[in-house]
Amino acid sequence: MFRVSQFMKALTAPVPTLPPSRGPMPGPVVIWNLIRRCNLTCKHCYSISTDTNFKGELSTEEVLTVMEDLYAFGVRVLILSGGEPLLRPDIFTLSERAKAMGFYVGLSTNGTLIDESNIDAIAAVGYDYVGISIDGLRETHDEFRRLKGAFDASMHGIRLCRQHDIKVGLRFTLTRDNAADLPGLLQIMNDEDVSKFYLSHLNYAGRGNKNRRNDTVHRMTRDAMDLLFATAWEDARQGGEREFVTGNNDADGVYLLDWVRQRYPDYVPVIQTMLERWGGNATGVNVANIDNLGKIHPDTMWWHYELGNVRERPFSEVWEDVSDPLMAGLKQHPRPVTGRCGACKWLNICNGNTRVRAHQTSGDWWSEDPGCYLTDEEIGLNPQAVAAGG
Ligand SMILES: C[S@@+](CC[C@H](N)C(=O)[O-])C[C@H]1O[C@@H](n2cnc3c(N)ncnc32)[C@H](O)[C@@H]1O
Ligand code: SF4
Repeated sequence: MFRVSQFMKALTAPVPTLPPSRGPMPGPVVIWNLIRRCNLTCKHCYSISTDTNFKGELSTEEVLTVMEDLYAFGVRVLILSGGEPLLRPDIFTLSERAKAMGFYVGLSTNGTLIDESNIDAIAAVGYDYVGISIDGLRETHDEFRRLKGAFDASMHGIRLCRQHDIKVGLRFTLTRDNAADLPGLLQIMNDEDVSKFYLSHLNYAGRGNKNRRNDTVHRMTRDAMDLLFATAWEDARQGGEREFVTGNNDADGVYLLDWVRQRYPDYVPVIQTMLERWGGNATGVNVANIDNLGKIHPDTMWWHYELGNVRERPFSEVWEDVSDPLMAGLKQHPRPVTGRCGACKWLNICNGNTRVRAHQTSGDWWSEDPGCYLTDEEIGLNPQAVAAGG
């Protein structure tokens, strides 16, 4: 997760000033896919969800036991996801218990099932954040999410949440099919008084891998990032508190540094230090995933790779076990990446970006990420170093 707004805020200081360091993270942010069933079948869905029951999912008691272990291990942020988490009959019980244990609890939903019948229950949980996916304007969104009427239902959910004073974010996965709708979505954010916008790049997992030909070309990604940066900068400059964040492409940090260099060169040292502190891709370190069957993965995009199962070993134990070769490399700093990533002069900022895209396109976890949209010049590429394997 790359918090664009935090960097923009630093640029509003009259003189370049380094904000205090936040210190080490307590435990990873855990994204927990509590259910795989979903009422939608989106084109890019990493969990390959459909409207059917999946056998062997964790019971209420199992989830609560694992939550205790997570808390004892130092995890403080849980994002409850799916499938569609609102299809889980015990979702409010689980959410309330998580809140009572002291977690920051986010709900990751497609929003179509939020209506007058459950909005009071949603509000009563006191979610710290409800993220609702909007992947385009009406026609694009319905096509992308493969259900006519999905856009209107999700917008209704957003409005109900806002009426109940729930913090809502729009989550948008950028592809070549919806890139043109980004300005319209940022306008919706404004019009609907939404305080957070999360732009996720496409990752090559599940149906997102099958449909990876729909990924943006790099020019489109750069245009989208330019617009996001400009919008976030305008908000920060006016003293706004809206959050603009991105995910699934850590080259965004390097691209932002370049944006700053071109406009506010005096701030480059401060922003560069902030970016190095952020440290880029956090898969297997500060981000973790548990799926509906209790399998633990380095992040949500690694469902094809299992580290262990909470039914057999405590999460805390599995997470620290670096006898697993993927985890050993992910926890290494710098990561043992090769190709353009290995030769990149900004590896300490981006940390080698998303290993899933590298793996899905080459079979090698440590090869370069094809999603990096920076030019050879921007990454200080030395062609001989790439030829020699980074
Ligand atoms: C799997 S969904 C589960 C929650 C809920 N059903 C929803 O769609 O918001 C979680 C988030 O991951 C995003 N997502 C799914 N597949 C993805 C992929 N291949 N790359 C990037 N984001 C993806 C979705 O758009 C959604 O915002
Ligand atoms: S992305 Fe979310 S809404 Fe779409 S099919 Fe997957 S789980 Fe369902």
